[in-house]
Amino acid sequence: MEIDSRQIRRLIRQGRSRERTFDRVLRRQGWLDPVGETIQKAVGAFYDSLGAPGKSLKDLMHGTTVLGHPLHPAITDLPIGAWSVGVLADWLFVTTGRVPAVAGDLGLAIGVAAAIVAAMTGYTDHHETVGHGRRAATVHGLTMTVVVVIELVSMGMRLWAPDMRTAAIVLATGAWLLAVVGGYVGGHLTFAMGTVVNHNAFFEGPMEFVRVGSREDFPEGEMKRVEAEGLPVVIMRREGLLHAIGAVCSHAGGPLQEGKLEGEVVTCPWHYSRFRFGDGKVVGGPATFDQPPLLVRERGGAVEVKLAHPLR
Ligand code: FES
Repeated sequence: MEIDSRQIRRLIRQGRSRERTFDRVLRRQGWLDPVGETIQKAVGAFYDSLGAPGKSLKDLMHGTTVLGHPLHPAITDLPIGAWSVGVLADWLFVTTGRVPAVAGDLGLAIGVAAAIVAAMTGYTDHHETVGHGRRAATVHGLTMTVVVVIELVSMGMRLWAPDMRTAAIVLATGAWLLAVVGGYVGGHLTFAMGTVVNHNAFFEGPMEFVRVGSREDFPEGEMKRVEAEGLPVVIMRREGLLHAIGAVCSHAGGPLQEGKLEGEVVTCPWHYSRFRFGDGKVVGGPATFDQPPLLVRERGGAVEVKLAHPLR
């Protein structure tokens, strides 16, 4: 069924075509901006204080090195899973007595340990968020931090006030429910707002050579942006040879042709991810995905490119 613009206006007037409630509410929470900024400054200062190892640790926490994929979403399953098992074991202990009390304690403790690593990776990713995404990331981070604090209180009660075990279990159950809410916000941040997703995932691009300019369009040592069958491409000439990679930064869509070129490495102007021309490899985070590499050839004064491999 086709809907024309008059119908769309009517739907909007009737309130049947509206922005998601979460986003509408979030847009009014201006107080989150200074909070998010303060968190970012603290995270940046922490990594800066470590010097060169701080940069390596930050890349590790993003997932740029070792995993080659965003680390935070991979780790968050651990605390959520452990706490879910812990809450189940707690209530089986309370209602049936057939599960030992220590099973719930163990689930909670494993969850807290994993949550601390998850928090480190999450606040590291938060460092590069902006605007509406930063507000959502701040809500997500603060919610999960409150969850960890409640879980720690529950742990303390189990250890030092055993007669308050039932209250400790109720607290842990409340924290688990809050973690589900926080998890929803984290999912929204990724799936609806596109944070930490590969920003080249939805491009197509040429699998056969297509013309993108003439030899004289690409002088030595300069980067130039062109389009190849809808794919933005940045081309640069070094020692006479042309190299090309996707121009849209995989991290958050920054324009690489406006970045800084040092040798064969370009630094994104937005959050300073670094990529190698030639193979598109990410050599410095926060990006975790490589740039699409392209093959370049010069034929009869024309410059042609094609993707080195399909984008998906
Ligand atoms: S857009 Fe974030 S590093 Fe390029």
